[in-house]
Amino acid sequence: MRMRNKYRKPTTLRCNAGTRCSFPVLVWSLVGCLLMLHLYSLVRHKDGVGGEIQTHMDHHHHLFRELEEVEEEDIQIPPPKGKRSPRAAKRRPKRPTTLIDEFLDESSQLRHVFFPDEKTAIHPMKDAMNDSFYYYPGRIWLDTDGNPIQAHGGGILYDEKSRKYYWYGEFKDGPTYRAHKKAAARVDIIGVGCYSSKDLWTWKHEGIVLAAEETDETHDLHKSNVLERPKVIYNEKTGKYVMWMHVDDANYTKASVGVAVSDSPTGPFDYLYSKRPHGFDSRDMTIFKDDDGVAYLIYSSEDNSELHVGPLNPDYLDMPHVMRKILVGQHREAPAVFKYQGTYYMITSGCTGWAPNEALAHASESILGTWETMGNPCIGGNKVFRQTTFFAQSTFVLPLPELPGSFIFVADRWNPADLRDSRYVWLPLTVGGAADQPLDYNFGFPLWSRVSIYWHKRWRLPYMRTENK
Ligand SMILES: *[C@@H]1O[C@H](CO)[C@@H](O)[C@H](O)[C@H]1NC(C)=O
Ligand SMILES: *[C@@H]1O[C@H](CO)[C@@H](O)[C@H](O)[C@H]1NC(C)=O
Repeated sequence: MRMRNKYRKPTTLRCNAGTRCSFPVLVWSLVGCLLMLHLYSLVRHKDGVGGEIQTHMDHHHHLFRELEEVEEEDIQIPPPKGKRSPRAAKRRPKRPTTLIDEFLDESSQLRHVFFPDEKTAIHPMKDAMNDSFYYYPGRIWLDTDGNPIQAHGGGILYDEKSRKYYWYGEFKDGPTYRAHKKAAARVDIIGVGCYSSKDLWTWKHEGIVLAAEETDETHDLHKSNVLERPKVIYNEKTGKYVMWMHVDDANYTKASVGVAVSDSPTGPFDYLYSKRPHGFDSRDMTIFKDDDGVAYLIYSSEDNSELHVGPLNPDYLDMPHVMRKILVGQHREAPAVFKYQGTYYMITSGCTGWAPNEALAHASESILGTWETMGNPCIGGNKVFRQTTFFAQSTFVLPLPELPGSFIFVADRWNPADLRDSRYVWLPLTVGGAADQPLDYNFGFPLWSRVSIYWHKRWRLPYMRTENK
């Protein structure tokens, strides 16, 4: 990958014809340069808590450190036996089976590894004794009524007023089908599901806060269309909750963003309109609200070949014309943006439909760029787990204010055979340590901290254990 950094200036000292260069001058210039660079790297991070200067040290909370253990997975591919799915066989006639093939094969003997059955479901009411607060990535996750949580491609809002978290996502509890032969698997729009929680584990269904349109076929949210990746932020100035989402037709040719607004986090949201942002096609998207109250829309554009980012208006209901193209030519989607100590980070996926692929972490000093790619943030599992983002796709990164530098990575494990049964993969994400691509080093001073997502079969937030012993 080609990357440029404005802070990584060329350092070769050239002697132009006519200039006299002596060796000591050269050495002192070099020392001067290094000092400047070092000072600069210190200054860059002066925004950090307590004037943090060891940017390459772990600065996230010590409680989170136990979650930074590398947990391996040893999954053996069973020998081919019996009938395999004819579709999988047709697609890959000769190649040996890989874990990804097994994942995509509805009749795989490993199905239970990726999609454990309902017997293992996380039930916040039943498990409240012995298994409290444990996340089991990939297992069915039930709400307080005992129904599977329907909040795919979702995002989480912390609401200061009610002191609750609200999880919004695609409510996909309908049959999966293809609109025509070449179409992608889909579920008709039902709406945006909303769940509330105080502990990020026990989720109460608050209903469908933005519903599909049943009859008017010209409506953006007619059930035959597409509504994906809803995200909600709160506007302090207007006191409104604002939802942005990807709206599309069944063939993904409309490629627009939709906006809805509500006085309450639990809706109902009034759908306002859709548009092509800045006149461009827009598919996977997210919104990010910065510390200064300015919110941004980030979306995949130009047929998913690049991302665009631009600020929203102060009311968050539209956007001015300002827009920057980022990660041009990198073909990334599923953006999830977060900020830590003045640096912006983003996790993205590749573009392979419902099939999983490798995540990348990106960092930038300004949300408008220049964004640089740091590499795959996934740690643990096994090689295939890491190459497939643990068989999932990013949708959101939730900061944990109690544990600075610690986040929850929220991803979807899509089940294209039955999209309503897609699973959630929540994992601890930390920022700290040196980024692993050599381009991110400058004379040994890392410019960016590493973003790490740790695989765990079972984990919980450390303070939950402390509180509930
Ligand atoms: C919790 O404990 C009960 C009773 O021992 C057991 O039946 C149940 O399977 C346990 N739950 C989990 C998720 O381990
Ligand atoms: C989607 O594409 C198919 C095949 O090209 C076409 O028959 C159908 O009318 C299209 N649907 C929409 C909603 O554009």
